[in-house]
Amino acid sequence: QQGQDYDYEVIAQEGITEFFKGISTETYGYNGDLLGPTLKIEEGKSVDVKITNELDESTTFHWHGLEVASEIDGGPSDEIQPGESRIVTLQADQPAATLWYHPHVHEMTAEQVYRGLSGMLLIDSSNSEDSTIPNKYGVNDIPLIFQDRLFDEDKQLDYDNLMDEDGTLGDISMINGTLNSKLTITEPIMRFRLLNGSNARNYTFSLSNGASFTQIASDGSLLDEPVEVEELILAASERAEILIDFSKLTSEESLALVNDEGVELLPFDVELDASTADSTEMWTTEEPFLSQEEKEMPVEKNIELFGMMDMVTINGKKFDPNRIDLRQKQGVTEVWEVYNKKDMMGGMIHPFHVHGTQFKVISRDGKEVTPREQGLKDSVLVNPGEKVKLLVTFPEKGVYVFHCHILEHEDGGMMGQIEVY
Ligand code: C2O
Ligand code: CU
Ligand code: CU
Repeated sequence: QQGQDYDYEVIAQEGITEFFKGISTETYGYNGDLLGPTLKIEEGKSVDVKITNELDESTTFHWHGLEVASEIDGGPSDEIQPGESRIVTLQADQPAATLWYHPHVHEMTAEQVYRGLSGMLLIDSSNSEDSTIPNKYGVNDIPLIFQDRLFDEDKQLDYDNLMDEDGTLGDISMINGTLNSKLTITEPIMRFRLLNGSNARNYTFSLSNGASFTQIASDGSLLDEPVEVEELILAASERAEILIDFSKLTSEESLALVNDEGVELLPFDVELDASTADSTEMWTTEEPFLSQEEKEMPVEKNIELFGMMDMVTINGKKFDPNRIDLRQKQGVTEVWEVYNKKDMMGGMIHPFHVHGTQFKVISRDGKEVTPREQGLKDSVLVNPGEKVKLLVTFPEKGVYVFHCHILEHEDGGMMGQIEVY
């Protein structure tokens, strides 16, 4: 394009999607009817992105997991009005990872995401010498955005009628915006980048034949070492990268990625050429995930998550854009203790997310985290009654939000602000 001085253009717009043959429903998308293009930034590099709002309402463009300056973080104070455009520079001074982007308008996040605004944002290091991890995008490196949707009797996505204040739970599973997804496998070792892009649902993934697979990455980095797992739980907004070695799985039986109810989310059609052998070199990190010193640091900040429905709070308060709840010095590492306080009903899981940082999870109820959480994170699942300790550092100054990533809870005020000075 002539005179184009940006690398990507991302336009939030209205669309029409035919989820069911012959039946259209209104949706939102980036550069299209639903969801958005995958954006890539090379590790250590930056891209300029032109963001435009062609919706009839304001929106924001939030780069979930990217450690950017607060002015371009796309939090609730960063609205782009209908018809407006802006160019932002996204700098990836952090490890390769599977991040994503979505809107973050105050009290409108849940609906805009539900209607279809989400996309993947990859920090890519596949050009670096040591990478034997599958990285042919769309061939053996597959992004999978998991979302659940509830259609009304006319097969329409009418958020207002469906909305549940504890998070809209759908009975239909959607992967990358399609129902009844299926994948033909032609390469022995496949890398999947799983994103739980649902408003509220937790997913427990496993293989239908019970076989194990390898988790290699968490939200914000590779794990310290790859971990064999038989199941994997992701709360809303969490990501994981996994490798499945299909050459080791007999293709006699049908194989699928299933959820904890055994429902097939993604059936695989394995068509391996017998001659295709492949291997991924695994790694181990010499340094321990947490130093002794880090494990012993005192708690500086206490965060209490509480409530359900629209009665949700953090430290007893609801979000106020004009109030700073916490302060932390730029570049200084602090321990946060996040407590999910039970209520009379027992409480529920809250995925706790912080903008502007990738943190480490130190412990859950005093117990050191398992290897599958030994990678950088920006969202952490906190079980009812649990206390989770985090090691948090902000590389940039500014005001950032932290919140529950059940989007209806976020919109309901389960969010606070931290000033990094
Ligand atoms: Cu996924 Cu506040 O964001
Ligand atoms: Cu975020
Ligand atoms: Cu919540």
